[in-house]
Amino acid sequence: MSLYRELARPILFRSDAEDAHLRVLHLLAQWQAHPKVSADVVQQLLHVADPRLHVRAFGVDFALPIGLAAGLDKHAEATHTWGWLGFGHAELGTITPQPQPGNPRPRLFRLPADEALINRMGFNSVGAAKVAENLFATRPFAIPIGCNVGKNKETPNEAAVDDYVAAIEQLRGLADWFTLNVSSPNTPDLRKLQAPGAMRALVEQSVAAAGTTPVLVKVAPDFEDDALEQTVDAVLEGGAAGVIASNTTLTRPNLRETARASETGGLSGAPLKHLATATIRRVYARTQGKVPLIGVGGIATAEDAWEKLLAGADLLQVYSALIFAGPGLAKELHLGLLDIMEGEGVKSLAEVVGQERR
Ligand SMILES: Cc1cc2nc3c(=O)[nH]c(=O)nc-3n(C[C@H](O)[C@H](O)[C@H](O)COP(=O)(O)O)c2cc1C
Repeated sequence: MSLYRELARPILFRSDAEDAHLRVLHLLAQWQAHPKVSADVVQQLLHVADPRLHVRAFGVDFALPIGLAAGLDKHAEATHTWGWLGFGHAELGTITPQPQPGNPRPRLFRLPADEALINRMGFNSVGAAKVAENLFATRPFAIPIGCNVGKNKETPNEAAVDDYVAAIEQLRGLADWFTLNVSSPNTPDLRKLQAPGAMRALVEQSVAAAGTTPVLVKVAPDFEDDALEQTVDAVLEGGAAGVIASNTTLTRPNLRETARASETGGLSGAPLKHLATATIRRVYARTQGKVPLIGVGGIATAEDAWEKLLAGADLLQVYSALIFAGPGLAKELHLGLLDIMEGEGVKSLAEVVGQERR
């Protein structure tokens, strides 16, 4: 029996999704501040240590491949706890240069029958200065930490570069990598920054601002024709160190929860899985392994994770499945990956990246 599924989840799912989220995040922040349940004990329970799971990507060593995706800890309030819960890295944010409230609530919806979420948070952020303060006060961290940055809603796209650069400058030295989020569907016109001309300029200037810290770009799963390939070319020309695929989708593939399906926002979780994997496959075909990829979207089992590695991902992230499966998820996925590796006779994850094409 899973304590989370049988006990905690039914209680959490009785409240509004964002209220439940805030309550859990508050508990995690409290735990970080006063680790009464010793972090060591929980880490012993949830951590997996095995050299076969090690990944080196964009100059950073990751002891474990599965990390926390952006959007859950937007303000770096519980940074330590993600490692304690067995994740190999955590991406914080999206962080905007100035604080902003995001969209009006309700703006986060559960679709339990689909194991999915729809959100239209709209970059609620305490702002880069406050996040920098939080990180500065709690560092160093046991796992690599990424800072995912975006633009303020009121900033027009013509001035977007200044916002990304301002956020990076305020967070410089505090993150192991930066991610440029140009793929949230909830900030008007944000995805237009993926157009090749805008993309290249944004990456170039962000890379210059980040100094020696690698800069990644997170793309959408909703590209038409060869627009994704053109975006990827621009990302590489601009000097990015990697690509994250993908963000949430505006499409609504075969949902059971038809009432909720019409909520505006980005869909994540199980129904996103194949679209996200297809996006990774296309990005990998274009990058040819020149830069590492982080695969995210609908990962709930070790088989899902394996599929994304085969499609070309070096590292992986999860968000939605954590809401449905609870705190044992990272361990379950890591142990499951080790089982698959044993079965396939694979000694390191690097051996399988992109192998479905060979
Ligand atoms: C409530 C919520 C908020 C999110 N906020 C962000 C965000 O601020 N920045 C970002 O890059 N991605 C954000 N995401 C997208 C996730 O990082 C991830 O790309 C997406 O949910 C797909 O992964 P999943 O299917 O494992 O959830 C958010 C997702 C959810 C569900």
